Amino acid sequence: MNDKITLTFTRRKFSEILIGLVALFFASGVVATILKYLWPPSVKATSSEVKIASVDEITTGSAKKFLFNGKAAVLLKMPAGFRAFGAVCTHLGCIAYWKPDENDIFCPCHLGRFDPNTGAVISGPPPSPLPAIDIIVKEGQSMLSGGKIRIM
Ligand code: FES
Repeated sequence: MNDKITLTFTRRKFSEILIGLVALFFASGVVATILKYLWPPSVKATSSEVKIASVDEITTGSAKKFLFNGKAAVLLKMPAGFRAFGAVCTHLGCIAYWKPDENDIFCPCHLGRFDPNTGAVISGPPPSPLPAIDIIVKEGQSMLSGGKIRIM
């Protein structure tokens, strides 16, 4: 009687296992994508309050970039007061930024321009204004907090 167990492992068998593992890897990605589509992660409330900056940190005519609900946003201090907008361009999603020399919020991808007071489209292809973010100035703490995002 032979008690010895021999395991033969051919190159062909090794290749089959390797191909199977690679196929399983890609298949799991497809399944994960389908599951994520069917059960998307819960979206954070759009009314979360985040600290953006201290009031004296931003001078009139300047801006600060920040994240709001995980998306790029920009806080501006205009002569009429603080303004904040989502900075994701409403055209194809590039990030717009404050251009003080031209007094607008500029999207470099297709030269979209937005009004820094209202977020309205000044020129270019964006179909709608930048979404405004309500700003809360907390006097005691001299902090700016971003409140609810608002589509104008
Ligand atoms: S993505 Fe901003 S103008 Fe096209």
